[in-house]
Amino acid sequence: MKPTILVTGGTGYIGSHTVIELLEEGMEVVIIDNLSNSNLEVLDGIEDISGKRPHFEKVDLRDRSSTFEVFEKYSGIEAIIHFAAFKAVGESVEKPLAYYENNLLSLIHLLEAMKKYGVPNLVFSSSCTVYGEPDSLPVTEEASIKKANSPYGNTKQICEEILQDTIESSPENGVISLRYFNPIGAHPSAKIGELPIGVPNNLVPFITQTAFGIREQLNVFGQDYNTPDGSAIRDYINVVDLARAHVVAIRRLLEQKQKSSFEVFNLGTGKGISVLEIIRAFENTTGQKLNYRMVDRREGDVEQVYADTAFANNELGWKAEKGIEETLLSAWNWEKYIRLKATT
Ligand code: NAD
Ligand code: UFG
Repeated sequence: MKPTILVTGGTGYIGSHTVIELLEEGMEVVIIDNLSNSNLEVLDGIEDISGKRPHFEKVDLRDRSSTFEVFEKYSGIEAIIHFAAFKAVGESVEKPLAYYENNLLSLIHLLEAMKKYGVPNLVFSSSCTVYGEPDSLPVTEEASIKKANSPYGNTKQICEEILQDTIESSPENGVISLRYFNPIGAHPSAKIGELPIGVPNNLVPFITQTAFGIREQLNVFGQDYNTPDGSAIRDYINVVDLARAHVVAIRRLLEQKQKSSFEVFNLGTGKGISVLEIIRAFENTTGQKLNYRMVDRREGDVEQVYADTAFANNELGWKAEKGIEETLLSAWNWEKYIRLKATT
């Protein structure tokens, strides 16, 4: 029997790449998404790439009864991957209640459904933002959790606490929280990728849009950090590598005999790369000259953060494989593909 996996936020950026990996593993996939930050065309891209179309339910997880109806309709869901959330750091400062409502209520309704319908396993999308400015590098899973510097970051911390408390009272459940570092890039087919709405906040979509001529100039935030070239350092992880880690996490939960577990894994490459190094790698791999200038630091940014990947590598048996140039090229190919599609 093929296991059935419920993927919330499955038409979003990381969710859609993960759905492909699950389908390619022969798993049955049911997506819940309210399309607040994605669109239905993503399902065509998934089908084009994998040859299979996942089940899709347009449901808002803030609505408990509609969420429960999905569990009634697809009996036999064995695990959930919970991507659905609002994720813009700046917006969360302006609209904190919307973030607390969406990100917390969605998780609570899923946990209620797990109990009611006997679904034992959940993988949660967390973030390295929970570590804030780390005391030492690379960051291990044991590093202390710092006070969140945005309501968005706080929702990730609170969600992890909710999961931990729930697990303690539900010995039949297993939960894995995956703390992503900086996911970038697109599927190598260029048929799915990241679709930021409006002006991108994140570095790589801003770079590809600038190279394409949609933005005039990239601002590099900060040139006086205590790093070799003065720009900030992050751990950029290819989205397909990241997606594969979810399949491994799901298999681990499905095979687990002893439940009542709450495990946390860092998902990164283990390598810190500066903003200026990213720009150079993008120029080298695409042949595009990037128009950029150095400006002041962006408020709320940490100086450097990159993962200690030993626990994920050894315990999960998963490792990031794709290099930065290949990843940046995939982002560039995706940018060209969507712009071309918009004009035809
Ligand atoms: P995304 O916005 O592309 O995908 C999220 C999807 O969830 C969207 O399709 C959206 O329509 C849907 N959604 C949101 N609220 C919903 C609700 N109430 N009901 C149903 N659907 C809802 O984001 P992403 O980049 O794919 O991120 C996925 C997860 O990973 C999020 O939880 C995010 O916080 C986390 N994360 C992302 C990053 C990153 O840099 N992209 C880094 C760390 C963690
Ligand atoms: N940057 C620029 N110019 C830009 C955009 C970004 O110089 O136009 C710099 C930032 O200052 C930072 C680096 O590029 O030094 C990466 O910035 P991103 O906005 O791409 O990513 P962040 O590390 O700030 O944040 C990301 C996600 C958050 C998540 C965090 C940790 O956007 O949601 O990773 O997981 F919380």
